[in-house]
Amino acid sequence: MNTRETLKINKLNHLEIADVDSVELAKKYQTPLYVLDVNHVENMCKVYAESLNSFYGNGKVFYASKALCCKEIYRIINKFGMGSDAVSLGEMFTAKKATNNLKNVILHGNNKSIEEIDYAIKNSVGYIVIDSDEDLDVISEISKKYNKTQDVLIRVNPGVEAHTHKFIQTAKVDSKFGFSIDNGDALEIIKKTIRNNNVNLLGLHCHIGSQIFDEKGFLLAVDKMTEFYSTVKEKLNYQFSVINLGGGIGIWYSDEDKKMTYNDYQIFIKNVCERLKFNVEKFNLPKLYLILEPGRSIVGEAGVTLYTVGSTKKIKDVKNYLAIDGGMFENPRYALYQAKYTAVAVEKMNDEPTTHYSIAGKCCESGDIITEDSYLPEMKRGDLVGILSTGAYNYSMSSNYNRNTVPAVVGVKNGKSYVIIKRQTVKDITKFDK
Ligand code: LLP
Repeated sequence: MNTRETLKINKLNHLEIADVDSVELAKKYQTPLYVLDVNHVENMCKVYAESLNSFYGNGKVFYASKALCCKEIYRIINKFGMGSDAVSLGEMFTAKKATNNLKNVILHGNNKSIEEIDYAIKNSVGYIVIDSDEDLDVISEISKKYNKTQDVLIRVNPGVEAHTHKFIQTAKVDSKFGFSIDNGDALEIIKKTIRNNNVNLLGLHCHIGSQIFDEKGFLLAVDKMTEFYSTVKEKLNYQFSVINLGGGIGIWYSDEDKKMTYNDYQIFIKNVCERLKFNVEKFNLPKLYLILEPGRSIVGEAGVTLYTVGSTKKIKDVKNYLAIDGGMFENPRYALYQAKYTAVAVEKMNDEPTTHYSIAGKCCESGDIITEDSYLPEMKRGDLVGILSTGAYNYSMSSNYNRNTVPAVVGVKNGKSYVIIKRQTVKDITKFDK
């Protein structure tokens, strides 16, 4: 387990999150339950915002909403002067409900609808990231309609391969995202965008992948991007003022991952900032405004999902199943990516492990697994299981598969708990049926 000040074992041998006993949380709010350690989220916001400020001094952190989108997360990041990204009307709408405007929002997406672009421009969104020729046409038309000049960035593909699961690599040459720098597509769309009077091209964006621990990929991306900024300056006599390097720094899920301390994140950001400062000088560029878009590393390790054990099936000499009251409808990441997680026996944290379990969900599908092999004390019906590091891409990728209801999200901070998102009911999920 990756313990920290706000994730530890208390005197009762229970898992404690931000000074709240998780057994009490399960009693109070029922299971399955997404718990979010708000103290940890705030600490990560502080790490990013302060590091960018002290190691670079000119830029902003935009939280990647896809990791966990709800009104409370926008209220939290706001306190640290952070903005957010959005890739749908729903994410923009939620951000606007929480903060009243979209001026600190970046709209992304490889296939934005007219409705989404209209909503963004009407509400004075901070930036729109162009990711196709059609994007430019629609943004231009709608900016003109509202008599505005929309600030835009262009998503480019620097061709850097991050070492991560292949489904979450996004900057490979054959990616559906961005314009390739190497094959000349990026330069072409830049020329077209510069000529367009309804948009104001400020710079480029790239996102090289997710769950990355090795900063080399980022440094390489900085090199490729700044070199390209210098090419654009030479060839088109055009100076960019913004550089957006996306998100992607990894978190600890299991002992196969590096345990990143707050200090490790600071050093990672520092190294990226220093390389950028160095390259800005080397290529004689203006001081660029740096945007980072972390998602997973802000909320991931802050999440713990609590479950109650139902059936325990022992297949002699083969496997022991521990079935919990959740599953792929609230955490599809094993089904999608064979993602590894760490399970804990919430009420017997320091007890000796004795049994290997496959933790299975309750969906009607063999691939509905949460962990393949968790070594735990003997577990029985009614016991609580916690899965660590579930704050990112769990709630946000949940579904109503098998018409299961999405669990509540409960925040914990300084010994107190509060509801962030209410638990769905069966009434909620039948309400659109005719
Ligand atoms: N910016 C852009 C443009 C992105 O596409 C992403 C993630 C981020 C920022 C944030 O990356 P992060 O810091 O969270 O790594 N569903 C997958 C992750 C997909 C990430 C997609 N883009 C998962 O569960 O692992």
